[in-house]
Amino acid sequence: MVHRHTWAVSDFVVRPSGPLSGSVSIGGAKNSALKLMAACTLAEGRYVLRDVPQISDVHHMCGVLESLGMSTERREDGALVIERGPSVISDPPYELVERFRASTALMGPLVAATGRVRIALPGGDNFGTRPIDMHLRGLEALGAITEVGERDVQIVARRLIGARIELDYPSVGATENVLMAAVLAEGRTTICNAAREPEIADLAAFLNRMGAQVLGAGSSTIIVDGVDRLRAVEHTVIPDRIEAATVLAALGVAGGEITLRNVRHDHLGMLMEKLGHMGIRTSPEGDGLWAMATGRRSATNVATLPYPGLATDYLPLLVAVLTLADGTSFATENVFAGRFRYVSELAHMGADIGVDGHHMVIKGVKRLTGTAVEAVDIRAGAALVIAALGADGETVISGGDHLDRGYEGFVDKLRDIGVDVSRSLA
Ligand code: UD1
Repeated sequence: MVHRHTWAVSDFVVRPSGPLSGSVSIGGAKNSALKLMAACTLAEGRYVLRDVPQISDVHHMCGVLESLGMSTERREDGALVIERGPSVISDPPYELVERFRASTALMGPLVAATGRVRIALPGGDNFGTRPIDMHLRGLEALGAITEVGERDVQIVARRLIGARIELDYPSVGATENVLMAAVLAEGRTTICNAAREPEIADLAAFLNRMGAQVLGAGSSTIIVDGVDRLRAVEHTVIPDRIEAATVLAALGVAGGEITLRNVRHDHLGMLMEKLGHMGIRTSPEGDGLWAMATGRRSATNVATLPYPGLATDYLPLLVAVLTLADGTSFATENVFAGRFRYVSELAHMGADIGVDGHHMVIKGVKRLTGTAVEAVDIRAGAALVIAALGADGETVISGGDHLDRGYEGFVDKLRDIGVDVSRSLA
């Protein structure tokens, strides 16, 4: 059993606050934790995962794992304990999986562990905009047969055989699925043009601890020598670089001087570079980061790219900062073509942003205006909270449940550094 949280639908209410101060501890990375949880389907035994954030996406993944016959429990020290018996069910119920994209990470490990999987396609209509064709081609290259139906996909493989796989694009999800399948395949798999995100390296470290033989994760060529058996292990999830970026962007708008604890500076290189251009000073301090912002931010140009480029998840946060910067900035989204729905909400608050295709022209204004706006996804919601720090009056952000998907204790953490934020029942 897992601790049952209630994820109430509620608004975020933000009022302008003075400069931020104090320190905040960054939690484990959502985008790593969810994949490690999926990888626990690979082998029998008892896993202990530390620093798994208490967020609704994790809660949903626990539900999915339980539906497969596994057990999940939060220990008193916060660690997530997952147990998998000698066998595992390989068709999670449609309703549990459908609206929850990270569940696609179960395809690779389940087909490797059981020889077949039947799983809902992510988000129905989303299949058009967030396809899984590369995931499927990668698994097919390992010998799986895939059949995409209207609502779900079935993947069957009596045995997986290592192969050389060239990804069209360094997709994070496709790299992870192929990696998690290849660890139990027969022979060597080479993934070329692999995604290089830190979360991939964390997954490979976890798999290697389980007994897998993975080389090169974190670079664009990953070599996997398949093994017969894996075992359950303990692991600590890497810190969430997007949560760190969110707090730094809040500082960028409100100004002040803060310290972030539990960060990996080596994962934040491009972000710190861009923040520097805007006039936010950062400096590593042990396993933490000191940061300071005074006066007004400077305009700068930003463009998203696969890692080590600037993460697509950072862009809404940085755009929120640039709406208040001195001068005109250009921003380009290269990873997800349709990721602009937050722009109209920022404009509603008085931001001056023009969109042309996947480019934005942001003319900095001195102040925004608090009003009622809607969070359409996790980072869009965070961007609105950040923008609200530079708005006159109160901003009420609906769709707060999106923020619960990805941020643990968001309100408490922001309050600890001086943000005036609260929740109110919608
Ligand atoms: C993951 C992250 C997400 C992050 C993204 C890029 C999780 C749960 N989510 O998403 O927060 O923004 O990486 O860093 O970890 N694509 C295809 N076909 C495919 C797969 C992807 O066309 O089979 C396209 C996507 O539509 C998108 C691009 O490739 O345009 C990048 O997607 P991908 O790297 O796969 O992101 P996700 O793994 O979905």
